[in-house]
Amino acid sequence: MKFFLDTAIVDEIRQVHEWGILSGVTTNPSLVAKSGRVFEEVLQEILSIVDCPVSAEVLSRDALGMIEEGERLASLSPNVTIKVPMTAEGLKAVHHFSKKGIQTNVTLIFSANQALLAARAGATFVSPFVGRLDDISHDGTQLIHQVSEIFRIHGIETEIIAASIRHPVHVTDAALAGADIATLPYKVLEQLVRHPLTDQGIEKFEADWKQAKHS
Ligand code: E4P
Repeated sequence: MKFFLDTAIVDEIRQVHEWGILSGVTTNPSLVAKSGRVFEEVLQEILSIVDCPVSAEVLSRDALGMIEEGERLASLSPNVTIKVPMTAEGLKAVHHFSKKGIQTNVTLIFSANQALLAARAGATFVSPFVGRLDDISHDGTQLIHQVSEIFRIHGIETEIIAASIRHPVHVTDAALAGADIATLPYKVLEQLVRHPLTDQGIEKFEADWKQAKHS
């Protein structure tokens, strides 16, 4: 499973990029609002840092509007992936982008059938939202299992991005359930790095080293 970063905060992207584990970035309108910056400026800056897929979401509700917005965003770089909501109009737009060789990420997926439809329309990525399903007492990880199994049975190449990830257990579960990618908030990625026994171990080795004989 690969790691994407789910943020519009450029400093977070810069830091994680240096770790050498970053395979993509996802943004959404809420994350852009949280960054307090102008979307196009943030997007250009992200594209100057990373050389991998960067999802930028369209806001139109109709296919023509999505296509217009998406083509403008896609003209910035081949790394721009157009994030389209899972609606009938969204499927039309995805089909259009797919014929033009523009990458897409179908977002707000909450059922296996939605994922299958998005894949058949030509989506590059589908994003089932694990955390938001858990929030309403549905098993988000089970959805990843289902989509992964359906794509395997039918030889579908669309990649599954486990989205709406809230904590490290979601990450392990998504990997075991067959997600190709998990898109994580910076906080969760940081939590993955750390372990209290690792910190304790470093302290202990450092303390013992001070007692050891040195040449
Ligand atoms: C994914 O692409 C979305 O931006 C994101 O994972 C949504 O997460 P949330 O449910 O925590 O807002």
